[in-house]
Amino acid sequence: MIRLFINVDHVATVREARKTDEPDPLQAALLAEMAGADGITIHLREDRRHIQDHDVVRIRESVKTKVNLEMAPTDEMLNIALKSKPHQVSLVPEKREEITTEGGLDIVSMEDRLKNMGEQFKENKILFSLFIDPDHKQIEASKRVGADSVEFNTGQYTELKDADKIAKELEKIKSSSKLASQLGLRVFAGHGLNNQNVVAIAAIPEIEELNIGHNIIAKSIYLGIEKAVKEMFHAIDRGINLRPQ
Ligand code: PXP
Repeated sequence: MIRLFINVDHVATVREARKTDEPDPLQAALLAEMAGADGITIHLREDRRHIQDHDVVRIRESVKTKVNLEMAPTDEMLNIALKSKPHQVSLVPEKREEITTEGGLDIVSMEDRLKNMGEQFKENKILFSLFIDPDHKQIEASKRVGADSVEFNTGQYTELKDADKIAKELEKIKSSSKLASQLGLRVFAGHGLNNQNVVAIAAIPEIEELNIGHNIIAKSIYLGIEKAVKEMFHAIDRGINLRPQ
């Protein structure tokens, strides 16, 4: 009931620490698939800090499930996506100085540009997803630009420590999921999820796809990829069991 896409960027982060050829994110992707992953997510950042252009080509050619390419909405990235034709593109905001993606994309401020990009994805049969904060204005704008899906940024929810604030943020994600679904958008989520905090997210009935990277790759160092992926599936199942019948 929930598709799990594994983000293998940080396998490439370790490789790039030595500018060598190991570990290989493609090998990690294939092992994640063997463990049951429904797809592989990679983020080709403008500064190429982890995933490289050749990884996009090799992973696209060899992965048997689906490839979700995360990228900034730039002309350079658009050309790469149209050439490599992943199953899905997720547009994310990108700042060079950030450690990881901070906050969702501001759709409202770039509707014309995104509409144009979306038309090109459609012509090439690439699903078009937008990574946004759980905000009703951004959801409505995502619909207007022709997105197939929205991925709600769970970063804020996963970083909060105070129980009341966590509950409030969770409510935002729930009501946003309802609105997106009512508008005909598919609902995904991701960022900062781990075996504990994923449970409440998987319990939201509209959510059908999750993108999870750092926690699974970190756990793989101790447990191996297969076990780390399977443990995440068990946690997701706990959430699904909490969904209203
Ligand atoms: N979704 C998006 C749009 C992201 O940018 C990232 C990080 O690359 C993720 C999901 C996965 O986040 P994490 O690595 O914290 O699981």
